[in-house]
Amino acid sequence: MKHTAAPLFESLRQFVERGQAPFYSPGHKGGRTLDPWFREHIAAIDLNNLPDTDTLHCPEGPILEAERLIADAWGVGQSFILVQGSTSGNIAVALSALRPDEPVLVARNAHKSVLAGLVQVGARPVWVEPRWDGRFGVAHGLDARVVERAFGESGAKALWVLHPTYYGTTGDIAALAELCRRHDAKLLVDGAHSPHFAFHPDLPTPGEKAGAAATVQSVHKILSGLSQAAVLHIDPAVLDPASVRRGLQLIQTTSPHFAIMASIDLARRQMMLDGRELLDQTLERARAAAIRLAAVPGLRVLRPEHLAGAGTGLHQLDETKLLVGTAGLAAAARDIVERLNHVHGVQPELSGTGHVLCITTIGNTADDMERLIVGFEEVASHVGRQSVNPETGETGLIGDLLAVRPETVLTPREAFFAADEAVPLSAAAGRIAAEAITPYPPGIPLLMPGERFSTDVIDLLLALRNAGNPISASDPTMGLVTVVR
Ligand SMILES: Cc1ncc(COP(=O)(O)O)c(C=O)c1O
Repeated sequence: MKHTAAPLFESLRQFVERGQAPFYSPGHKGGRTLDPWFREHIAAIDLNNLPDTDTLHCPEGPILEAERLIADAWGVGQSFILVQGSTSGNIAVALSALRPDEPVLVARNAHKSVLAGLVQVGARPVWVEPRWDGRFGVAHGLDARVVERAFGESGAKALWVLHPTYYGTTGDIAALAELCRRHDAKLLVDGAHSPHFAFHPDLPTPGEKAGAAATVQSVHKILSGLSQAAVLHIDPAVLDPASVRRGLQLIQTTSPHFAIMASIDLARRQMMLDGRELLDQTLERARAAAIRLAAVPGLRVLRPEHLAGAGTGLHQLDETKLLVGTAGLAAAARDIVERLNHVHGVQPELSGTGHVLCITTIGNTADDMERLIVGFEEVASHVGRQSVNPETGETGLIGDLLAVRPETVLTPREAFFAADEAVPLSAAAGRIAAEAITPYPPGIPLLMPGERFSTDVIDLLLALRNAGNPISASDPTMGLVTVVR
């Protein structure tokens, strides 16, 4: 082995030195929006729990004071600083809000940290289908009528929603909150992508202001937080703060990075002092870019005119996100992103079937936006167009995925801890999955742990694999799958 090499460090250095136009998280975009003294002293403030610095697990000094300011800024009863992303927040929400075997309505496009919480608690998820959108090849929020039916059928006392989706779309959170009130159920919000909603009236209604018992937000994704910086807001009248703290003590490190915590403190200050103006500029830049991108032949951009109205899973849109539909171009979205990156030095957040997602924040400049638009214009003319049904777009994949909804047999926890074995996928019909199997796109598990393999599911997984779609599972080649013995 060649120990003069430092491969990870070198690849990061090369990435930074290429100077890409950043349309990905974290929101500070290479440090542009960070306080200058803080940016220069990140190593110096990498400290331990000392009398002067306070302790995250039971804060009494500056951490507690910072948490109080966070709660005030976001307008909630109580907030907790998280140093392990929204992932740790979602697990803490499960530990404090749910109980073993209790039914809970969960959006099927939930992030895997929600599944991690369900496995740890042993609650019984009742999956609720989000609103799918063939034009862009993505899933949005939940339709209120679908949730109402699920409440009636399940007797669940909690609803766990994604607000917003990765793509910045939301359901009607006020209508969902009202349904929760009527059914005496807690509203739990995975708001990983919503830390900025509270600071601008043109952004969607924040979960924490709509009556959520708990809202988790990744400050690092959109605001000036370092990676892993996140917050958990609760309504202490609904969720016992002591049980939340107890849950967090189980899962958070005892050596939190003080720079991560301080970045939340500073992101809060920045939003309270200048947030309105900074977000005004961000929205203005993103809206102008959306109009120009939508004018490029072969592209479409998700805009407010695509919204489906009150009570639907496509009720509001975070316009700082640019979801660019690429189904009208004669190239796969991942190849479009590769050319944007290698030829134009533009790095989007992700690509999926028929779309590219660009995240714009207070850290992007007019120059970034120009590079993005010019890059897309060149790539579009380079790859050429293909015809596509303007209403439905590329629905093939989504139709296939929706057609197979597997039977739930065990809770995710029961399946996770059951004795298991690996069997060939071709021999798995009738068996119960002990793992989540997630094709990308759309990155939503086709099978959750505890769900049964059918021949339809197996055929679809084989077709997806043969078409070259990456599949996240213990064996990504889908040769073997892990099932309950
Ligand atoms: C919807 C959603 N929830 C939770 C998370 C986890 O957030 P974090 O990476 O801050 O742990 C993510 C991450 O992408 C996410 O997209």
